[in-house]
Amino acid sequence: GDVRLWGGRFADGPAEALAKLSASVHFDWRLAPYDIAGSRAHARVLNKAGLLTEDELTRMIDGLDRLEADVAAGTFTGTIADEDVHTALERGLLERLGPDLGGKLRAGRSRNDQVATLFRMYLRDHARIIGGLIADLQDALVGLAEAHPDVAMPGRTHLQHAQPVLFAHHVLAHVQSLSRDAERLRQWDERTAVSPYGSGALAGSSLGLDPEAVAKDLGFEHGSAGNSIDGTASRDFVAEFAFITAMIGVNLSRIAEEIIIWNTKEFSFVTLHDAFSTGSSIMPQKKNPDIAELARGKSGRLIGNLSGLMATLKALPLAYNRDLQEDKEPVFDSCDQLEVLLPAFTGMMATLTVNRERMEELAPAGFSLATDIAEWLVKQGVPFRVAHEVAGECVKVAEAEGKELDGLTDEQFAKISAHLTPEVRSVLNVPGALASRSGRGGTAPGAVAVQLAELKADVATQ
Ligand code: ARG
Repeated sequence: GDVRLWGGRFADGPAEALAKLSASVHFDWRLAPYDIAGSRAHARVLNKAGLLTEDELTRMIDGLDRLEADVAAGTFTGTIADEDVHTALERGLLERLGPDLGGKLRAGRSRNDQVATLFRMYLRDHARIIGGLIADLQDALVGLAEAHPDVAMPGRTHLQHAQPVLFAHHVLAHVQSLSRDAERLRQWDERTAVSPYGSGALAGSSLGLDPEAVAKDLGFEHGSAGNSIDGTASRDFVAEFAFITAMIGVNLSRIAEEIIIWNTKEFSFVTLHDAFSTGSSIMPQKKNPDIAELARGKSGRLIGNLSGLMATLKALPLAYNRDLQEDKEPVFDSCDQLEVLLPAFTGMMATLTVNRERMEELAPAGFSLATDIAEWLVKQGVPFRVAHEVAGECVKVAEAEGKELDGLTDEQFAKISAHLTPEVRSVLNVPGALASRSGRGGTAPGAVAVQLAELKADVATQ
């Protein structure tokens, strides 16, 4: 029969063009298990309010259980004619319980408060899944750092040689930003633990239902919405989720870009495992970093999901507007993309091999120890302004002679400045330069070991 929700005042059913435009069942079907959980909680508050007898409640829950099993088995699905997941499941319930009992569940709720609640439940579950996948990546990166505690590499700014750093220090910098992403997800979850169920279409319900009981039933730790208009119309929780997932994408893209560069013939810092790289259909010698490139590409898509959503929300008047149906596909996509990307990315990072010789050969190149000369002079009492000049002069002479800094003779040092005694050579080597940066957060092996222990503890408690 006609399952339209608003049959009463309409003489005609919807035009086919409208039905096609309106339908969301092809993408909101993934909310079905949450919708059924919401229906169970709603049936219980209807019972508490005296609007469903004990017997009706038992049969209602049984009908919902059977519907849930059929949804899980794929024997019940929504169609375009249902419009959305909520309507489809109402039809399923009516088919199972008959119109008299099945028709009672819709009292005191609206698809507006339903969808706002279910969407929160779905995203909260996926925030946990994505958080777990981030922890796996952090484990892989921590493992990479731990396996190479003493490998030096050229640290760069502006992509130019700057100062030598430990490879482990560089890798752990990425773990730090991922830790903040994981923390963002946890804080978002905390803010999102509020249930809009009971807000009705926008104004609440006159039926004496208990929104706090529903919130508790559905696992919303911070209870029910304090304002039914806000409960049904706000989507900042979606936008914030889209931002966090976009930020994760951006952070992955920064690791990805480095892997792509490090994997070139010119750098040759890393070799990717065969299982996590791809070949070329025409060039037999090729081994491409496709996972890293897809991470770089998908980060653009995740940013697009965020910006599209913000544009949809901008200037929407209160309360619910149908525009809000456009809120789901972008973030469903963000979840889907990260949930396929992160495991592949973790595999790539966990299996790559590090070319220690190459990194260490380049660590002192490009006069990257010039700062060490300047800081050594400061320790001899030379003002930094002068020390900087003197070290710059050393670079000028070395560059002109095609030497590295430690290739300068004692005479050349002495000629540049009387302060440059042969003892300066003690800092003109990479291990010395690394060891000297021993303050908190520095690249000295001891400081990096402290950082590693802190991050391991942090990841373990995520
Ligand atoms: N499918 C809609 C959405 O995703 C929920 C239905 C609310 N529709 C309405 N006409 N009030 O936002």
